[in-house]
Amino acid sequence: MAERILVTSALPYANGAVHLGHAVEYIQTDIYVRFLRSCGQDVVYFCADDTHGTPIEINAAKQGIPPEQFVARFHDEHQRDFRDFDIRFDYFHSTNSPENRHYAELIYGRLKDAGDIDRRDIEQTYCEKDKRFLPDRFIRGTCPNCRATEQYGDACEKCGKTYNPTDLIDPKCALCGTPPVRRNSVHLFFKLSRHADFLQEVLKRPGFIHPGLAAQLQGFFEKGLADWDISRDGPYFGFAIPGETDKFFYVWLDAPIGYIATTEKWAKESGRVPDALAYWGKDAPTRIVHFIGKDIVYFHALFWPAVLNVAGFHIPNEIKVHGHLTVNGEKMSKSRGTMVAARDYLDLLDPSYLRYFYAANLGAGVEDLDLNLKDFRLRVNGELVNNVGNLANRALSLLAGPLEKKLAPGRAEGAGRKLVEDALARVPEVREAFEKLEYRNAIRVITEIASTANAFLQTAAPWALVKKDAEAARADLSDAADVAYLLGALLAPVTPRVSEKLFAQLGAEPLTFQALATAKYPLLDRTRPLGTPEPLLPRLEEERVNAIIKVPAGTPAAEPAKAGGKDKKTEKKPVEAKTPEAAPTTQASPGAGAAEGAPAADIEYADFAKVVLKAGRIVAAEKVKGADKLLKLDVDLGEGTPRTIVSGIAEAYAPEAVAGRRVVVVANLKPRKLKGIESRGMLLTAGSGGKDLSLLDPGDVPPGAEVK
Ligand code: 2FM
Ligand code: ZN
Repeated sequence: MAERILVTSALPYANGAVHLGHAVEYIQTDIYVRFLRSCGQDVVYFCADDTHGTPIEINAAKQGIPPEQFVARFHDEHQRDFRDFDIRFDYFHSTNSPENRHYAELIYGRLKDAGDIDRRDIEQTYCEKDKRFLPDRFIRGTCPNCRATEQYGDACEKCGKTYNPTDLIDPKCALCGTPPVRRNSVHLFFKLSRHADFLQEVLKRPGFIHPGLAAQLQGFFEKGLADWDISRDGPYFGFAIPGETDKFFYVWLDAPIGYIATTEKWAKESGRVPDALAYWGKDAPTRIVHFIGKDIVYFHALFWPAVLNVAGFHIPNEIKVHGHLTVNGEKMSKSRGTMVAARDYLDLLDPSYLRYFYAANLGAGVEDLDLNLKDFRLRVNGELVNNVGNLANRALSLLAGPLEKKLAPGRAEGAGRKLVEDALARVPEVREAFEKLEYRNAIRVITEIASTANAFLQTAAPWALVKKDAEAARADLSDAADVAYLLGALLAPVTPRVSEKLFAQLGAEPLTFQALATAKYPLLDRTRPLGTPEPLLPRLEEERVNAIIKVPAGTPAAEPAKAGGKDKKTEKKPVEAKTPEAAPTTQASPGAGAAEGAPAADIEYADFAKVVLKAGRIVAAEKVKGADKLLKLDVDLGEGTPRTIVSGIAEAYAPEAVAGRRVVVVANLKPRKLKGIESRGMLLTAGSGGKDLSLLDPGDVPPGAEVK
C-alpha cells in the first residue's frame, strides 16, 4: 500500500490574531504539502485552534464572555486568514471539541492503566488577593535556567526550558502583581522519567528531528528527565479529569491530542478513512510529520512521543523545526507595530509576495528568518515580478498579439530546444530542495532558470525578428513559453495563485512534479491556443509595503531620541580609520582613513575607466568566523568558476538573504586577504554602512555583463 502522509502545523492559540510570525510556519508547511501533492503523494494537512488554558480564560473573563464564545470568534477569524494566505488545510478543527475530549480521556485512561500517572501533593503558588492557584500564565518571574525576566510559570520563552511556577525567581501574580504564597494541592504527574531510554532511541531515528536539536535535547537526559505535571486546579478552561474533583488537563496535554481529534473529525466528515486510527494506530502505514517552532520542541519531541507510545498510538516520524520571524532585524514588537496581523497584511498585499519571500529565505535549519521590508520589496520585484513575471509576459504578449495566440511545434534542435531541455534537467535539484525543506535553494534554481530564459530572449530578440521572420520568432517565443510553463509548475507550491494565472494564460493544464518526472520537450501542447496575457503580479510599491507596519495609536512613531539622549542612527560617529571589517564593501575603500564628508576631488574619465564593474550573482554566502561584519561570498561573474569575495555587509544582510541576488562588482581590484580569506573583488552598496546598506542590483542582465 502506498504510504499515507499526515502533516500538521502547530495549533495556534485561539487567543489573538494570526500574525506574520505564525505565517512562517503555515507557509512553510503549506508549501511542503502542496509539493508532496504535486508529486502525487497521498497527503493530508491538519490544524486546529488551541483553545484551553489560562490566558484564554483570563482574556474571556476580561471581556465578560464565556471562554467558549471567546474561542469561537477566533476560530472563524483564523480560518479566514489561513484561507486568504492560500494555506489549504484538509481540516481546521478545535481542541475544545467532543473528538478531543474523547481522545484526551482515552489517552489519559491508558496512561493511568499503565501506571504512568502519579498523584503528588505539591506546593503551589497561590494568590491570596485573587484567591486562586497561579498556574502557568497566571504567574510571571525570572527564568530559573537562563535568568530571562518576565517569564511565565510553565516555560521560558527565551531558553525553552519548562519548569514549575514555584521554580520562578521573584514570582508575581500576573493578575494583580502581588508576590504569591505557597499552598499545597494534589497534582497528577505523567512519569516521563520512566521513558528516557525510549525517547533517546526515538531521537536517534533517522529523520526524526534535526541532529543539532537532538543533541541539544540530550542536555535534558543528562540532568535527568523530570516528570510532567499534567493537571491544573479549577477554575481552569479545559477538560475535567475523569475521576477527579475540580482538576483539569493542562492545556499542553490536550493540545497535541488535537492533531488526532482533527484527524477523527475529518475522517468522519470526508469518509476517506473510518477514523483517526487509520493514521494514528500504532502500526498504521503512515508517515506523521509535525511542523513546529523552535520554542515548542520539548513538548513535541519528548512529552508527545512518550504519551503516544504508552497509549498505544503512532509516534511522529518527523518533527520539522523552524526559527522565528524578525522584522527589519528585530524581534517582532506590538508597540513598534512589527507584529503584523495576517489581516493587516492581506488588506494591502497579495499573499504570493510573502509566500515567495519566505520560501526564498527558508532553509532546513532553525535560524530566524528576517522580514527586512526593503529586502522583501527588492527581492520580490527583482525575482518574482521582473524575472519570472517578465519572462512570461514578454513571451506571451508577443505570441498573443502579432502571432495570434498560436504556438510553434517543437523543434528538432537549436538554442530554444536546448534552453527547455537544460531547464528540465534542473527539476531534480528543485525537487530535492523542496523535499529537504531547503526552499531557498529551490528558489535559487528557479530564478536561475528564469534568468537564462530571459537572456535567451534578449539574444533572440523576437520583438525585432517578428517583423522579418514571424515563424522563427514564434518558435523562439514558444520555447520561452515552455520555460514559463515549467516555472509555473516549480513555483506552484510556493505561489499557487501566480501559477494558476500563468497556466490559464498559457491555455494549459496545471503541470505537476509528478508529470515533470517523465516530461519531455516540448512541454506545452503546442496545438492549443494561448489564453490572454496580463502581468502576473504588480510590482511591490515601497509605500504600500511600509504601510503593513501600523504603529499603534499612542506610540511615538519612530521612537524619537529622548531629550539629551542619542539617536543611534543619526549620531555622527567620530572620524575613525575604517578597518576592513568596518568598511561597507569588500575592501577598505580608497579613501579609508580620510575625514568623512571631505569633498572628493574631481577625477578624469580615464581614471574612472580603469575600474571594471561587472554584474554578478551571489551563488553562496556564509558568515566569516570572528568577524561580525563580514560575509564570505561566492559570486558568479560569468567566468566559469565563481569568485570568492569577502564583503562587509553582514550587519545588513543575513547570508541566506543574499544567496541568489544580483550584484555589481568591482572586478579588477587587486586580490587581498581579509581574515585569512583571499577576496577577489568588491561589491557596490549604497547607504551609510552597518545596517543601513543596500546592495546595488544591476537588473536583469546575465552574470559577467559589464556595468558602465
Ligand atoms: O505554542 C503554541 O502556540 C501552541 N498553541 C502550540 C500547540 S501545538 C500542539 F501541540 F497542539
Ligand atoms: Zn493576584
